[in-house]
Amino acid sequence: MSARVVGGADGVREAAARLRSGLLVGLPTETVYGLAADARSASAVAAVFDLKGRPSTNPLIVHVADVEAARGLARVWPESAQRLADRFWPGPLTLVVEHRGNLAPAVVAGGTTVGLRVPAHPLARAVLEESGVPVAAPSANRSESVSPTSAAHVVDSLGPWADELLVLDGGDCAVGIESTVVDVTGEVPLVLRPGMITLEQLRAIEPSTCMTGPVPVEGVLRSPGQQERHYAPRAVVVLVESLALKSISPSGKDAVLSLTVDHPPGNGDTSGARWIAMPQDAPGYASALYRTLRALDDVGVERILVEEPPVGDAWGAVHDRLRRASVPVRKGME
Ligand code: TXA
Ligand code: MG
Repeated sequence: MSARVVGGADGVREAAARLRSGLLVGLPTETVYGLAADARSASAVAAVFDLKGRPSTNPLIVHVADVEAARGLARVWPESAQRLADRFWPGPLTLVVEHRGNLAPAVVAGGTTVGLRVPAHPLARAVLEESGVPVAAPSANRSESVSPTSAAHVVDSLGPWADELLVLDGGDCAVGIESTVVDVTGEVPLVLRPGMITLEQLRAIEPSTCMTGPVPVEGVLRSPGQQERHYAPRAVVVLVESLALKSISPSGKDAVLSLTVDHPPGNGDTSGARWIAMPQDAPGYASALYRTLRALDDVGVERILVEEPPVGDAWGAVHDRLRRASVPVRKGME
């Protein structure tokens, strides 16, 4: 049980060779690290579900080198898909389209659609080009925990369960939260999972784009990101309004992620609570969020008080992840 971290051009070559021979790779992308496998190989894909402890009803995102490769996996390529791809690929956008049946059935959870993405990270692109393989890659963490945004996170998350996992080191992920997922199979584009490509940005290209809620379709979740508890650290996360935060006295087992509130008078310095000033812009906040949650788990914080970020389009994805992280653990889930 172990993981090995590699980098550079040699790392890319080794990662590509492994993917071609049906093995798994920890792959950097600009959003989060993925657990990558050849999406056409039933056994490689089965190993991904196994290692993640992921329910078989949750389909995986398939990563490809360019729009042409995406079209080669789609049965139907709507005009809206083309317009969104032209604007946002390579980048943190996943498009759900009908698939052509040329992927391992488990990738699409036995359904008729597939989520496709052309990532922007240079090492991800190099591996996709070098391997020539469509790469199924969910986030490289055990199901329901915080997605990894560095190679070290992948080793921490999966090393104990992996049999010689190769992790390609691409540094810290710039975006830091998972891609925006948009279903373009219907009359209007539907955002299944918010991300740093916002609703307003999508509407600038496709004005009819709508948000959707957690709607299970034919027993298959339209989006794994729609499970209620997801992206959650071990510590309990509590969302607190700015005003309320000013009057709270955190204990030494608490941490505070603040935006506008300074150490509250009289206790910030003396209680021992970790008081972390988060970036005030949404992209900066998103980029730091998972790394911060993991670091707090590592030092054994029991409760994380999070100052509610502003409302508005730019903060939509951050709100989504904080809300999911703060859902209480259901009985029997952990
Ligand atoms: O940023 C990302 O998307 C990262 C990196 C590695 O690319 N990947 C990721 O994968 O977050 P995962 O498996 O943790 O999240 C899976 C997402 C779901 O939220 C869902 O929206 C989407 O994949 N998905 C995949 N196939 C789908 C399908 N056929 N129908 C609906 N959603 C699908
Ligand atoms: Mg995930």
